[in-house]
Amino acid sequence: MTTDKYSKLVETNKNTIFHPASSISDVLNNGTTIFTTGNGARITTHNEGEFIDGMAGLWCMNIGYGRQEIGETMLNAATNLGYAQTFAATSNQPQIELSEKLLQLTKGVFSRVHYGLSGSDCNDTAFKLIRLYNNLRGKPNKKHMMARVNAYHGTTVAAASLTGIPSFHTAFDLPIDGILRAPKPHFYADGLAGETEPQFTQRMMDEIEKIIIDAGGADYVAAFFAEPIYGAGGVITPPQGYFVALRKLCDRYDILLVADEVITGFGRTGEWFAHQYYGFKPDLMTTAKGLTSGYFPLSALFIGPKVWDVMVQEADQLAAFFHGFTYGGHPTGCAVALKNLEIIERENLVERAKTMGDYLHRELRNRLQGSQIIGEIRGAGLLAGLQLVKSQDLKQFFAKSDKAAVKLQAAVRKHKVLLRGLPTADALAISPSFVIKQSEIDSLVSAVVAGVEEIENILL
Ligand SMILES: Cc1ncc(COP(=O)(O)O)c(C=O)c1O
Repeated sequence: MTTDKYSKLVETNKNTIFHPASSISDVLNNGTTIFTTGNGARITTHNEGEFIDGMAGLWCMNIGYGRQEIGETMLNAATNLGYAQTFAATSNQPQIELSEKLLQLTKGVFSRVHYGLSGSDCNDTAFKLIRLYNNLRGKPNKKHMMARVNAYHGTTVAAASLTGIPSFHTAFDLPIDGILRAPKPHFYADGLAGETEPQFTQRMMDEIEKIIIDAGGADYVAAFFAEPIYGAGGVITPPQGYFVALRKLCDRYDILLVADEVITGFGRTGEWFAHQYYGFKPDLMTTAKGLTSGYFPLSALFIGPKVWDVMVQEADQLAAFFHGFTYGGHPTGCAVALKNLEIIERENLVERAKTMGDYLHRELRNRLQGSQIIGEIRGAGLLAGLQLVKSQDLKQFFAKSDKAAVKLQAAVRKHKVLLRGLPTADALAISPSFVIKQSEIDSLVSAVVAGVEEIENILL
């Protein structure tokens, strides 16, 4: 396509599209970047050439861009059937095969899967299922849901309410009633002077327990939603022993533990699932993104025996599960997910996320050693977060008005690498495709180092 045609597209875009998570004036004044092609960990834009996509799109393009095999799978699925409903006890072969595969991958922790289209709808489904579970058990007051400060669980009404970032609430009269906000367990930022990491974990548990008790205790609190590693809220890793302790606390109060593995699921941490990485068993798990590596909108809610057994026992009372989506269990999406999982296994991409992730973390540590504004480098596998600080020694953070994370994202972009600044935590996120090459990690880290130097010069 010629430059002229792209200018026309940018103009048409301005006049037709209300963009998600975008500044309206930015789109109207500056237009948009149009992505044109992608290959492996790289993506090409209409006007600035090729970038290393250090975010794998929105943390999802795990097997890399431009996979012909996926295209062929879609073609076959579309020409074979195209669509099939899954309401009223109907099904399709890819959905059945995918479900068997997913339950195998999660090693007996879950009993059933339920499909949707996005991480947000998956969290909304979990939210409704938890209400249903407690209604069926004769516990109508046990409805409060806990989620954490800075958490990101999506943008539909229940998911946005669970999300703990104020900008997703204020303009929309959210959160809905009944959300309890647990503290953000970030030891680096919020650990007290002289407090050890296990002591910090214990303090987090004590604070959570107090919130539970204040809400009325076990009869009132239904579930705790948590990303094993925060994504959009700062790529925050849990303090030592956090999830094992949280699991025990939830059990003590008969609270369901929901792992939101929309980002961490399907290999990103170097294990198939982050709850395996942290050694705990959730009661429910929400997944999307990496399930199809972004090639098709599909989410899967994993339902453990605690909840599933109640559904079966109370099946007559329930009559039917009056919930679902027209496109849930879409045969094309399920076929794409199966092919995506086959590619991940065939190319050992979970192992690769671990080895390349170790390399990424080592290089970031080595090459940012002298930097004054990187306070913490955290994450697991091919998921990393860099904490920006004004002073490492004093652990002093930049003012919001400094917009340090956004400035760093822009500075890195000049070196042909796309990363994401996360303003709520003043952190830079790194989450590339699992097929990223070692040489591309080198380029990515060089871009980060150059960006950090530029920001240091501007902000210090
Ligand atoms: C942890 C987590 N949960 C849920 C969501 C929402 O997913 P979606 O944008 O597909 O609705 C996201 C999206 O980034 C996420 O990171």
